Amino acid sequence: MTERLHLLVPAAGTGSRAGTAQPKQYQTLAGQAMVCHTLRALLAVPGVSSLSVVVSPDDSRMAALLAADPVWAGVRVRPVGGASRAASVSAGLQALRGEGHSERDWVLVHDAARCLVQPEWIQALIQTCRHDPVGGLLAMPVPDTLKQADGQDRVQATLARADKWLAQTPQMFRLGDLWRALQAAGESVTDEASAIEALGLAPRLVRGHALNFKVTYPEDLALAEWVLAARSQIPIAHGEHRT
Ligand code: CTP
Ligand code: MG
Repeated sequence: MTERLHLLVPAAGTGSRAGTAQPKQYQTLAGQAMVCHTLRALLAVPGVSSLSVVVSPDDSRMAALLAADPVWAGVRVRPVGGASRAASVSAGLQALRGEGHSERDWVLVHDAARCLVQPEWIQALIQTCRHDPVGGLLAMPVPDTLKQADGQDRVQATLARADKWLAQTPQMFRLGDLWRALQAAGESVTDEASAIEALGLAPRLVRGHALNFKVTYPEDLALAEWVLAARSQIPIAHGEHRT
């Protein structure tokens, strides 16, 4: 298999729902900026050709943060972010294309805000999708009963949940396919898979992990910090229960 793997981390958001004074990716969690936890996990994935972080053009903080420690030497900061997540990802893909990478190379897009991701979960995605014609994403079957609201916070219907999944990241597609899909989809898509789906393709769902949630609201920051602190302090013997 000659196709290479590129990791692309959109980190150009402002984190408005998190309620933090600074963009959430810079919020300190268990002693380190959130984005550093994310990048540490990504750097531990074997067989990766490049790791890029997309930030806003006016963001000088990421470059300064990563320059402070040689552990981040392999991370490329790309100040090409846009007004939406889709625009930031598109700009990152454009940068990769401009460097002459093959259209058939795989790109794994991972939210900076999913800072609890583990290398093994990403490896499972890669193993499942590497020989897939389309690609896929980490996702979780919906665990709770699903209600449809009527617009006034009253239940209109209870939906079947057996076929429903919550999309996570990384989302893994070929550079050329994903570029074309995002160009066609525009800025409103909130993940890569929906752009690929709009081309009539069916991405593969690969079971992720409940702890691969996206830090979005203030309570998520506290939960992520508890998990990070627990991981660094408490060695748990039984792999099954490992976070
Ligand atoms: N993102 C990005 N460019 C944008 C918007 C979002 O690169 N214009 C990134 C975020 O930095 C984050 C990921 O996309 O890592 C997921 O987006 P989300 O959780 O929505 O982050 P924000 O947009 O920053 O938060 P909010 O929607 O609450 O403002
Ligand atoms: Mg957002």
